[in-house]
Amino acid sequence: MKKPRLNWATEPWSDDELLECAMVVPETADAATFTFRAPSGAWFDYQPGQFLTLDLPLPGGNIQRTYTISSSPSRPLSISVTVKAQRMSLATRWMLDHLRPGMRIKAYGPSGIFTSLRHPAKKHLFISAGSGVTPMMSMTTWAWDSGEMPDIVFVHAARSPSDIIFRRRLEQFADRVPGLQLRFTVEQNDPFTAWTGYLGRLNQIMLGLMAPDYLEREVFCCGPEPFMQSVRDMLVSLGFDMDHYHQESFGAPVRTEADAPVIDDVAPEEGAKAQITFAASGVTAPCAETDTVLAVAKRSGLNIPSGCTFGLCGTCKIRKISGEVHMVHNGGISDDDIAEGYILACCSHPMGRIEVEV
Ligand code: FES
Repeated sequence: MKKPRLNWATEPWSDDELLECAMVVPETADAATFTFRAPSGAWFDYQPGQFLTLDLPLPGGNIQRTYTISSSPSRPLSISVTVKAQRMSLATRWMLDHLRPGMRIKAYGPSGIFTSLRHPAKKHLFISAGSGVTPMMSMTTWAWDSGEMPDIVFVHAARSPSDIIFRRRLEQFADRVPGLQLRFTVEQNDPFTAWTGYLGRLNQIMLGLMAPDYLEREVFCCGPEPFMQSVRDMLVSLGFDMDHYHQESFGAPVRTEADAPVIDDVAPEEGAKAQITFAASGVTAPCAETDTVLAVAKRSGLNIPSGCTFGLCGTCKIRKISGEVHMVHNGGISDDDIAEGYILACCSHPMGRIEVEV
């Protein structure tokens, strides 16, 4: 019998291609997973824990939003994000109400440095709240698929048991490997349902019971900022070595002296004049060397899509045609892209006259 052939493209997906929504799966009452594939059949190359920036066509105009990827690169034919409706969030609400299979949208990335691959360790402690579970799901699936016995204590905080995203999938993983220990805590029980997990906000005593050896573990934390702040405070007061703490904040990474980028001799000079030519738009704008390319584009009425605005997400990647820029990014662009002439507009300063392909 003829062996069926898998129809894979040889090249990984690049963000020049739109993503097609393939599936929408409800996870809880207010959260859903959106799975995308590349119409060309390209596969997805990323690290577990990274994020994707989606360009969402809202009625009032496109807006870019960054979502952590919930799928794992060990299953590379599609890529998923899991979003939870937040009060006041137009973008997430739009996704839940309008994004349906067959629709194609622009996306940027994947990007980000929050990944267990950068911090290999024998023992992990994942701590998440709400939709902060998504990178943990990606890293856990990666660990499971890689075939090595993981040693993960997976702590997750939710409002109630029915709000725990991926509960059943995680329990199926944990049923089969002793090295994955699930520890859920909820603020309130669901009526008429037995709950045998923890009740109340995560605190020091709970953490000690959930992971008695937490001091030996590499900690990854993701959730709302007040939650992550309370975890940081808790760990510091427990004497945890914070070099082994990592969090997804979608904020500029806090640098230690050792992490600080080596700035080359040429740095933007206060008051020095510069000029940017936006070739495709036929606009030339005088500016200062201390301006970013993104700021000058905005001032000139030009739209360069952007997300984080500090060189992390890669959304504002554009091609430089000529001239020099001073760019200090946070991992949102690869060395290969830089070698090919790309820059991140949000963190690139023109050194004299430059021309870009916008
Ligand atoms: S906007 Fe995120 S890297 Fe520029």
